[in-house]
Amino acid sequence: MSKGRAVAVISIYDMTKSMKIEQMQSDFVANASHELRTPLSIISGFIETLQTSAKNDAKARDKFLSIMREQTDYMASLIENLLSLSKIELKQDEKPDEIVDVLEIAEEAADALSQKAAERKIKIRIDFEDNVPEIIADRGQIKQLIQNLTDNAVKYGVSQSDVTIAISKSTNIPNSKSHKTANGEAVAIAINNKGAKISTDNLTRLTERFYRMQEHKNLNIKGTGLGLSIAKQIILRHRGNLTVTSTSYNGTTFTVYLPISQEDKS
Ligand SMILES: Nc1ncnc2c1ncn2[C@@H]1O[C@H](COP(=O)(O)OP(=O)(O)OP(=O)(O)O)[C@@H](O)[C@H]1O
Ligand SMILES: [Mg+2]
Repeated sequence: MSKGRAVAVISIYDMTKSMKIEQMQSDFVANASHELRTPLSIISGFIETLQTSAKNDAKARDKFLSIMREQTDYMASLIENLLSLSKIELKQDEKPDEIVDVLEIAEEAADALSQKAAERKIKIRIDFEDNVPEIIADRGQIKQLIQNLTDNAVKYGVSQSDVTIAISKSTNIPNSKSHKTANGEAVAIAINNKGAKISTDNLTRLTERFYRMQEHKNLNIKGTGLGLSIAKQIILRHRGNLTVTSTSYNGTTFTVYLPISQEDKS
């Protein structure tokens, strides 16, 4: 009898959990659809103007076409990020098993972003300790993780300053209240940019899907608000951790901790 009751309790608990997940999924679909609808309606509005009042106005046409281009670029990166998130979710319970050289990946990310950095007169520097070991990880995902964080540093850092990617060995991974981190040694990747201090309120919300700081929206800096939530999912899968510190003097540093091994030492 008491056994039966226990089973009932578990199933109600599971139902609550799955209802929560369903709610989160439908919120996500609603947000994603809303984010796609906005540029779509802007484009559609300009098409109408080009077909009617601006039909013979070459100057207006150029201006409207460049806005339409901006909006389609935004839609393309939104779709790319949504697809990334869903691919990452599919792999979430799979243990990473590739041998990965973090320094090599940081160099690839710095190369890929060098043009964008040069446009803002930013230099990307890589600092690394000698003998940082390779880690067991998912290479493609670690590349995406470092690229997303470095892209942010280049985009939100002060122009004409340096972005630094510092790679070192760490004896452990800082504990997390929300998820289980691996024990044992780790590699730490600290990505720093100069800039205004981020408020504590904003800091706690940065990895939420679609969250973007108002001041960056006001400055018309483009983004989907998904880069850091992708980074967070990748770090969770690797049982690592992410810390962020921000001061007006040192700027902002995102530090990723990734375990060297995926096997727990007891
Ligand atoms: N290094 C940073 N310095 C200051 N603010 C940052 C930094 N990184 C992220 N942010 C803030 O966090 C928000 C969320 O970042 P996230 O990478 O998730 O999205 P995004 O950069 O806006 O879009 P996307 O990654 O698609 O280009 C940013 O919009 C910005 O306001
Ligand atoms: Mg980003």
